[in-house]
Amino acid sequence: MENCCLHPRQWRGRRMHRITADWSRSLGKSSLTVRAMDCVTSTAVLSLLLGCVGVFSLFKLLRCLRMKARLQDAVVVITGATSGLGRECAKVFHAVGAKLVLCGRNREALGQLAKELAASRASEVQTHTPRMVTFDLADTGATVAAAAEILQCFGHVDVLINNAGVSYRGTILDTPVDVDRRVMETNYFGPVALTKALLPSMVQRRRGHVVAISSVQGKISVPFRSAYAASKHATQAFCDCLRAELEQHGVAVTVLSPGYIRTNLSLNAIAADGSRYGVMDETTAQGRVPADVARDVLAAVAKKKEDVVLASLAPSLAIYLRTLAPALFFRLMASRARKEQKPKDS
Ligand SMILES: NC(=O)c1ccc[n+]([C@@H]2O[C@H](COP(=O)([O-])OP(=O)(O)OC[C@H]3O[C@@H](n4cnc5c(N)ncnc54)[C@H](OP(=O)(O)O)[C@@H]3O)[C@@H](O)[C@H]2O)c1
Repeated sequence: MENCCLHPRQWRGRRMHRITADWSRSLGKSSLTVRAMDCVTSTAVLSLLLGCVGVFSLFKLLRCLRMKARLQDAVVVITGATSGLGRECAKVFHAVGAKLVLCGRNREALGQLAKELAASRASEVQTHTPRMVTFDLADTGATVAAAAEILQCFGHVDVLINNAGVSYRGTILDTPVDVDRRVMETNYFGPVALTKALLPSMVQRRRGHVVAISSVQGKISVPFRSAYAASKHATQAFCDCLRAELEQHGVAVTVLSPGYIRTNLSLNAIAADGSRYGVMDETTAQGRVPADVARDVLAAVAKKKEDVVLASLAPSLAIYLRTLAPALFFRLMASRARKEQKPKDS
């Protein structure tokens, strides 16, 4: 009725106003609905996410407890326990209740470590007093005799961690073969002799685990480290065969290949003339903290991992490059050799 008294322009205006009001009402309603839906969805998604995180954390906790339980009371032999990574491995394995046999050349340093372990309160589980066996891995006879002593400590060995090692710095041109042999004796023949001497008892029990602390240089070779890289490549190859041959006997094999670790490794390295290198390399000084690497070793052993690279992105990529684009890898290494050689030549 009222519309009929209106001017057509006024009528059009009111109509437009009504339409706009209808729109905004319906739009308001739908945006409210959307907001409500958003809220419900985000709450549901949030609860789902929280649920997943909860289940995942519970799963991780259970796995961690199972893993620790597996190593509790296990007899773990650690070579090179006097220093660096071996010393830290002793601490983490002791804390989960492993029965340790600490090996090294220096009885005093082993005794000091055993005292520290006895005084540590970092464990919620029953810990055990470690035993000590001293021998030089470069002496095969002494190593085989030490294996018998190791077996007598607790009657058997569950885990053998071949950690002891020595590095090398020098050019191939300047290094007499005796120096290569010394590095191979400690890093390769010594651990092989110890492993072979302990294997029959593991096979007989159908239980055992051989762990090798290799290196990224067991997968790729870096210039001026020839003897070291060769010994670690040999370790990797030996362990890959060992894993295949012993699977049927219930013995597991783990190879860990760390990148640089902040230890005395470069200080203790053998130089081309056979002397102690005695320099803390910048790469080593900036390497990972040994305690962190030891925790990774513990996790890998508990999970019975087969092959683990513990390195940052660049060395990990270099390992792939060596396989996928060898020509490029060789060119990069040659350029690195030229750069590193220059200051020594000049
Ligand atoms: N540091 C790194 O950047 C790095 C990186 C990758 C892999 N790794 C590997 O990690 C392992 C541990 O080295 P680390 O870094 O902890 O160096 P470290 O501090 O120099 O410790 C080396 C250990 O090996 C022992 N050892 C050396 N020669 C031996 C021999 N002939 N007989 C028995 N024991 C011997 C040493 O005992 P003594 O006290 O008797 O000398 C010492 O306990 C080595 O296998 C090494 O190749 C190290």
